[in-house]
Amino acid sequence: MAPLVPSSQPWVEKYRPRQVKDVAHQEEVVRVLTNTLQTADLPHMLFYGPPGTGKTTTGLAIAHQLFGPELYKSRVLELNASDDRGINVVRTKIKNFAAVAVGSKSYKGYPCPPYKIIILDEADSMTEDAQNALRRTMETYSKVTRFFFICNYISRIIEPLASRCAKFRFKPLPEEVMSSRIMHICNEEGLNLDSQALSTLSSISQGDLRRAITYLQSAARLFGSSISSSNLIGVSGVIPPEVVQALFESCKSGDFDTANKEVNNIINEGYPVSQLLYQLLDVVVNAEDVADEAKAKICKKLGETDKCLIDGADEYLQLLDVASQTMRALCNMPDELRFD
Ligand SMILES: Nc1ncnc2c1ncn2[C@@H]1O[C@H](COP(=O)(O)OP(=O)(O)O)[C@@H](O)[C@H]1O
Ligand SMILES: [Mg+2]
Repeated sequence: MAPLVPSSQPWVEKYRPRQVKDVAHQEEVVRVLTNTLQTADLPHMLFYGPPGTGKTTTGLAIAHQLFGPELYKSRVLELNASDDRGINVVRTKIKNFAAVAVGSKSYKGYPCPPYKIIILDEADSMTEDAQNALRRTMETYSKVTRFFFICNYISRIIEPLASRCAKFRFKPLPEEVMSSRIMHICNEEGLNLDSQALSTLSSISQGDLRRAITYLQSAARLFGSSISSSNLIGVSGVIPPEVVQALFESCKSGDFDTANKEVNNIINEGYPVSQLLYQLLDVVVNAEDVADEAKAKICKKLGETDKCLIDGADEYLQLLDVASQTMRALCNMPDELRFD
């Protein structure tokens, strides 16, 4: 096989910590897992928390540290959202993998405990039926397998699965931690980032280190080794602040047609609405001329809309709804139309 061209490898993979101890900021998780690694006796585990905080990294690292590179393939089954994980797959693939028992002897310095590991990444995208099917599999093969569930939203894992797992919450990464990982990559790759660009990168990535690293790599590809704050904004898909401001002003005007025009403009430009919600949230929270009650109403609406979008609702209708509700709150219009 031809060797990989180094520059073609995504930096998220290249700079993924290989050992649990190198996972930054999740001290408690690291401490507990380092201890369990010594006894090699693991419970089923559930990692949850926002994206890009080290969940997948930690799961892969433990599995590698337990089995080493050679046994990894036969002992670890990784399934993520891009694999088919409907109820039939759970019944067959996972069952077949789980059912074959394995021996225990340490191998080339790795502990190699007598069980297999099944990593279900992005488990919150599995249907409830598939999760229910897993429940039996987990019980039947509990002696010979350990499950790692990884998800953003713990509430989407059914209780019978969640209650069988040791749960670990991953915290969003603060700016210092993000910056220090980014600086490390810049040093390795010979990139030049001034302090303004560094802080822009942390703020547009919102505690998601995967995003930060991806933006950095895209910017490096396009702009070379000297990267500015505006280069990063350019590759990040952040919506230009004036667009968000224009929507906000149109809501303030109290004129529905004006607001509708802005909404159409945003949809036609193809800006992602979920991104817009975050930027609008900032504008609303920091607006000095908006009453607290109105801010509270708008924030509640933004939260509900975010959930609807995650569930697959239509972007145009959701944004129009946000605009209408924001207008109502800002202009003290009545909340509900009453026909009685
Ligand atoms: N806590 C962390 N410490 C070090 N690197 C991290 C951490 N969290 C995320 N990263 C970096 O971000 C990338 C994505 O992390 P990942 O573990 O896949 O996130 P997720 O929590 O979404 O599963 C990794 O390749 C790694 O380089
Ligand atoms: Mg992940």
